[in-house]
Amino acid sequence: MSSAPLLIRGGTVVNADREERADVLCVDGRIAAVGGDAASQAPAGTQTLDASGQYVLPGGIDPHTHMQLPFMGTVTMDDFYTGTAAGLAGGTTTIIDFVIPDPKEPLMDAYRKWRGWAEKSAADYSFHVAVTWWSDQVHADMGTLVREEGVNSFKHFMAYKNAIMCDDETLVNSFKRALELGAMPTVHAENGELVYLLQQEVAKMGITGPEGHPLARPPMVEAEAANRAIAIADVLGVPIYVVHVSCAEAAEAIARARARGQRVFGEVLAGHLLVDDSVYRDPDFATAAAHVMSPPFRPRSGGHQEALWRGLQSGQLHTTATDHCTFCAAQKAMGRDNFAKIPNGTGGVEERMAAIWDGGVNTGRLTPSEFVAITSANAARLFNIYPRKGFVGPGADADLVLWDPEGTKTFSARTQHSKGDFNIFEGRTVRGIPSHTVSQGRVVFARGDLRAEQGAGRYVHRPAFGANFQAVHKRVQDLAPSAVARA
Ligand code: URP
Ligand code: ZN
Ligand code: ZN
Ligand code: ZN
Repeated sequence: MSSAPLLIRGGTVVNADREERADVLCVDGRIAAVGGDAASQAPAGTQTLDASGQYVLPGGIDPHTHMQLPFMGTVTMDDFYTGTAAGLAGGTTTIIDFVIPDPKEPLMDAYRKWRGWAEKSAADYSFHVAVTWWSDQVHADMGTLVREEGVNSFKHFMAYKNAIMCDDETLVNSFKRALELGAMPTVHAENGELVYLLQQEVAKMGITGPEGHPLARPPMVEAEAANRAIAIADVLGVPIYVVHVSCAEAAEAIARARARGQRVFGEVLAGHLLVDDSVYRDPDFATAAAHVMSPPFRPRSGGHQEALWRGLQSGQLHTTATDHCTFCAAQKAMGRDNFAKIPNGTGGVEERMAAIWDGGVNTGRLTPSEFVAITSANAARLFNIYPRKGFVGPGADADLVLWDPEGTKTFSARTQHSKGDFNIFEGRTVRGIPSHTVSQGRVVFARGDLRAEQGAGRYVHRPAFGANFQAVHKRVQDLAPSAVARA
């Protein structure tokens, strides 16, 4: 995909470590220059964008999406084209999605299938690969994925019993293997046995509607799994990344482990920051069911949303994502008589950045630089694609957002680009929105005009042994036990 050189003039460039007034020159899909002489280096034919009064941010990285996911007997509404296009409209220029093999399915087969599906992406993409079972073949395939395919993170579902849930045997083996490969283990932390039991108990009480969903997945179910995964990672000396941390108890587990010196990282979803569990008691089934996702939205009274904001503020939680996974009303109706059969998932890839700017920067919880850290730079560092992604500087990919701090927008399913038929932020008006999105140096979104191109996205290889691994490997050596030499 070639495009004319692009000069972004007069904006304030924001990186995770600083803000500066600077022009940005993009040539051949990369950033060629930032600052004083960028304009003078612009070749003939350069297109200019006026960014005065605006911030120029690294394009967002959503490290947790599910496009075209076959799940709970159906497939999500958004495929890799519509989902990534929606992301571009919201300033997100890279997604990290998930390859999820069925139990007993070879990892490489699933990986090839997902790579094929993702070819239609409009934005750059990469994959975490889920380990849903264990065998020597899985051990071997993890090596192939890391060494030959640029995968540096593996996902473990501690929930979804009788489907993709991993037991402790798989967790332990996979974490150990990930450590030797220099790849980050990640977990969906919910105790699947407890969820399974509570689902039956709640149904026995005559509660079959979506209000049963949060009752079967209380915060302690998440905290138990988070603590267990963190403990296993500690024993093995491997770093760990906990996806969609939704409650105060899980955030505390991460903060405690970090205080002990453990390398634990936490991801927060835009939805968990802003939506609470009252939605599950909506008298309209479709509305309540549309919010069914796991872990569920949490009660306001428990201080969960505040705990997540504070985690991001304090640096104890690191990334923000969406878990974008859209099912329409007809799909959600598969669980009309049994909440446990409602396909789990909600959208948000288009809304994440503006929702977090409005809730975070406009309230003074976050600085613009901290916003960049939690919407792109930290994910790029943790998954070892920094500074190619998550950074505005020479040599980085020209994935940028022109951020208009005074622009406003009201989120709605009627105007969203996602093919989903619901918006969990419906009616919420935010201030601070992307005016333009630039992907690979090309303007793909300009003041409401989406110019996403099917197939323009590239697969992003992520090398193993990021900085965290260099440190943990040294630590393992430093702390290695030794035998006592006796005469
Ligand atoms: O409810 C959710 N989150 N659906 C997608 C799968 C997962 O657990 O991430
Ligand atoms: Zn091995
Ligand atoms: Zn999950
Ligand atoms: Zn997910």
